[in-house]
Amino acid sequence: MTESLEHASVDAATADMAKASSKSEEEAKHLLRRVAERHSRADLDIDPSLYPAFVDSLIETSKEFDPQFTADVERAWREALAPGIAYMINKY
Ligand code: HEM
Repeated sequence: MTESLEHASVDAATADMAKASSKSEEEAKHLLRRVAERHSRADLDIDPSLYPAFVDSLIETSKEFDPQFTADVERAWREALAPGIAYMINKY
């Protein structure tokens, strides 16, 4: 992957992360890069095929414990996680 594409995907994955937290975009990028590296084959070796089950478990847990859970909340979780997961799988 070229340097500019790498930047484009980390930017897409972290813009919302930064907005949703007190972190700066730079901090969010640093965090996502570190988490991706930690899950890659060089470290924890989390196979990309495991991500859908991880997201489904998160949704099930949210459904069980969040009294305000709705289909919109589920959609929001899935949309929020997708760019970060795409980045992590790309860096696997
Ligand atoms: C959106 C997807 C995910 C996110 C945001 C995420 C986030 C994290 C973070 C922040 C850590 C701590 C990293 C550190 O030590 O600095 C971690 C550790 C870990 N993650 Fe994930 N993770 C994701 C998916 C997965 C999946 C799919 C698996 C396996 C099925 C997994 C397995 C692990 C394991 C085994 C650790 C190490 C725990 C330890 O050190 O005791 N993660 N993850």
